[in-house]
Amino acid sequence: MRNIISKRHCCTIYLFFSLIIFFPTIVISADTITPTQKLKNGQTLVSEGGVFELGFFTPGNSGKWYVGIWYRNIPDKAYVWVANRDAPLSNSSGTLSISNKSIALFDQVETIVWSSNQTEAVNPVARLLDSGNFVLRENNGREILWQSFDYPTDTLLPGMKLGWDLKTGFDRNLTSWRSTNDPSSGDYSFKIDYHGFPEIFLWKKLEKRYRSGPWNGLRFSGVPEMKPLPNLNFEFVIDQDEIYYSFDITDKNLKSRLMVDSSGLLQRFTWVEERKTWNPYWYAPKDQCDNYLECGPFGICDANASPVCKCMRGFQPKNPQAWSLRLGSDGCIRKTELQCMKDKFLHLKNVKLPETTTAFLDKNITLKDCAALCSRNCTCTAYANANISHGGSGCVIWTSDLLDMRQYAEGGQDLYVRLAASDIGDGGNAISLIIGFTVGGAVLVLGVVAFFLWKRKTLLTQKGKAQQKGPSERSQDLLLNEVVISSRRDNSGEKTDEVELPLFDFDTIATATDNFSDDNKLGQGGFGSVYMGTLVEGQEIAVKRLSRNSGQGIEEFKNEVKLIARLQHRNLVRLLGCCIDLDEKLLIYEYMEHRSLDSILFNKAKSNLLNWQRRFNIICGIARGLLYLHQDSRFRIIHRDLKASNILLDKDLNPKISDFGMARIFGGDQTEANTKRVVGTYGYMSPEYAMDGLFSVKSDVFSFGVLLLEIVSGKKNRGFYHSNSELNLLGHVWRMWKEGKGLEIVDSAVGDSYLAHEVLRCVQVGLLCVQENAEERPKMSSVLLMLGSETAQIPQPKTPGFCLGRNPPETDSSSSKHDESCTVNQVTVTMLDAR
Ligand SMILES: *[C@@H]1O[C@H](CO)[C@@H](O)[C@H](O)[C@H]1NC(C)=O
Ligand SMILES: *[C@@H]1O[C@H](CO)[C@@H](O)[C@H](O)[C@H]1NC(C)=O
Ligand SMILES: *[C@@H]1O[C@H](CO)[C@@H](O)[C@H](O)[C@H]1NC(C)=O
Repeated sequence: MRNIISKRHCCTIYLFFSLIIFFPTIVISADTITPTQKLKNGQTLVSEGGVFELGFFTPGNSGKWYVGIWYRNIPDKAYVWVANRDAPLSNSSGTLSISNKSIALFDQVETIVWSSNQTEAVNPVARLLDSGNFVLRENNGREILWQSFDYPTDTLLPGMKLGWDLKTGFDRNLTSWRSTNDPSSGDYSFKIDYHGFPEIFLWKKLEKRYRSGPWNGLRFSGVPEMKPLPNLNFEFVIDQDEIYYSFDITDKNLKSRLMVDSSGLLQRFTWVEERKTWNPYWYAPKDQCDNYLECGPFGICDANASPVCKCMRGFQPKNPQAWSLRLGSDGCIRKTELQCMKDKFLHLKNVKLPETTTAFLDKNITLKDCAALCSRNCTCTAYANANISHGGSGCVIWTSDLLDMRQYAEGGQDLYVRLAASDIGDGGNAISLIIGFTVGGAVLVLGVVAFFLWKRKTLLTQKGKAQQKGPSERSQDLLLNEVVISSRRDNSGEKTDEVELPLFDFDTIATATDNFSDDNKLGQGGFGSVYMGTLVEGQEIAVKRLSRNSGQGIEEFKNEVKLIARLQHRNLVRLLGCCIDLDEKLLIYEYMEHRSLDSILFNKAKSNLLNWQRRFNIICGIARGLLYLHQDSRFRIIHRDLKASNILLDKDLNPKISDFGMARIFGGDQTEANTKRVVGTYGYMSPEYAMDGLFSVKSDVFSFGVLLLEIVSGKKNRGFYHSNSELNLLGHVWRMWKEGKGLEIVDSAVGDSYLAHEVLRCVQVGLLCVQENAEERPKMSSVLLMLGSETAQIPQPKTPGFCLGRNPPETDSSSSKHDESCTVNQVTVTMLDAR
């Protein structure tokens, strides 16, 4: 291999010199620029061993030109360094030369656009080394006067130092490109904080995004998977002169680089020659728990648990309501105030040490002395070994809130947290924290899920910002269902065609409903009341009388109603007409004999009306109605409040989806959106919707899954407690399914008339729909396929979202047995429809 390279290299040099003979003006030797030479666009320097190349490039044909360094024989150009990232040449003319004892880049009109620092050199030469370092030295001298390695762009190469020269205050950081084709300084940087016990932070502008954790002698405390390789060594140096991170490669054929990309992902790539690709070897942030301060002060994040945030023993959520909605950032507070000398220490294992920028480091004392020091000093909140190699040494002491901790299944290290003696319990002062985790191999799966959640969250934050709504629009949202359909047009921009919709006059409806008498009232919701009525011809109708203060104009109302009227499907309730009279707005729907599904399904006296065949028919009908809304209607519609009380049954017990009160219509290509105001009904809401306000067709799929499991079991998701383990319906079904007892969940009111394989298929599909990760939930089209076919391959479901037991979200060994269920706390979320 090495032979081949050097042979090739000889050829290169040979070629190069032959070029020089033909074009005598080019007087540049392969890897060096001297004061009398200029490097022009089109020419390159090649390092001695042919590893790196330096020259002009224009990324993505942007027309902006840069001088950079890349791996020579790798076609997939990775620019490891850019000289003039923030000062591009505006055209392809430029020269790089030595000027005024520095390296300088001149544009077409000989103006300097970029230069290295001035040096004291008498006869300087610039040379590209095989390490990828571009250095300025005295001719024949060894001392480096200036080097590109001191000015990293977004990439750390072997031998480069990331960090501080404490004598000069000089700092080397990685700063991302602005975008894939724009090398100018982007928003993300990776930089050592030298305060306290140094660690590295990933920043987005002025906001911390991710923390490596301090170096514990073996690895970063927050990178448990980090292991030295036979040919790749990591180094973290802290002394009086320098604080830096670096890595080194002993095998010349191995190419490895660490970089921060323009989306804020920190990645290590290694080159795989056989496959000719850069293989992403490692990356961070990896999962939700890598998000800086995901679980707030004193919170501890466990990517293998659901929800991920926990409070340690002796702590409780500071804001229980937000906590139960999986917003952990308020963190935890002590149950009992500290009492100084009487306090004890909770021993946590396998954790990522809390943020150490304000911690105190003493490299020279033992853990025992560290413990003594901490317990004597009442401001000390925790302590740990600074170095865990060779049995442990050194001491870190925290005197403030413990920030950004996480729990690992393995790796991580021990931490001792100060607690009031009464919170320690009877187990003495060394109670280990074991975060329950039983499903082997699920580590990986959950990690991936968490990563997607994290990704989604990041996307969402950006989206959310772009889509924040003004107050007037938001209140409209809440007014009438149909309001949101406002002023939408087809993708093509064409006006939607007219639909004839009867306008009823107010008196007709008043008569039909006996003047909206209470006897005729079917229900009441946030948008108004619903009445039963009979027209003179004998036709039965349901009338929805919208609240008066909707503040919406008549023309808008009419337009919207016309749009709804165009949604026609046999599994959607049909709108018959509307009525506008002064400030009265009425919607007239077909009347459903059997009213709503919940009034039968959850009513002991009536539920035997629903045998298995009917239940299966209802499930498929709802699925078809939902598919129509999601896919087949001209608009993409997200129902947002699918639940048993919004499914109406006609005289033959055919299901019809009703109440588009919260429905949102999407443009044809929009697939998800974000709302500041979470509406919907608890128990049916997907985690990402309850937690992040993110709704998509997949949040409807989640609600459908809950509904399906309710129909099969005859039990309400909210309010179902299993006799011993206090699980909710999803947790219960999940457990039964995993134990192979899927058939036991069938409602006893169904009797024995069911087909076992149909039931099991339903349960499996239901569980797929309520999976925690929205991406993994099937679309309604696949749901229908799976329900309808005896032979369809149905994937194995993964852990449902929101299916925890109902213990307080505290972490200690005693709760570990509840781990794989997930919690729904008894919190009422804005429930707008109380029907
Ligand atoms: C060389 O650098 C010095 C110091 O920065 C500056 O004063 C001087 O004008 C420069 N000379 C040229 C020819 O650019
Ligand atoms: C990173 O280093 C560059 C100089 O190489 C500096 O301009 C920039 O401000 C540094 N970024 C941060 C976040 O300190
Ligand atoms: C407690 O520790 C902190 C940090 O090491 C130190 O600043 C403070 O002086 C100590 N207090 C006492 C009473 O020792």
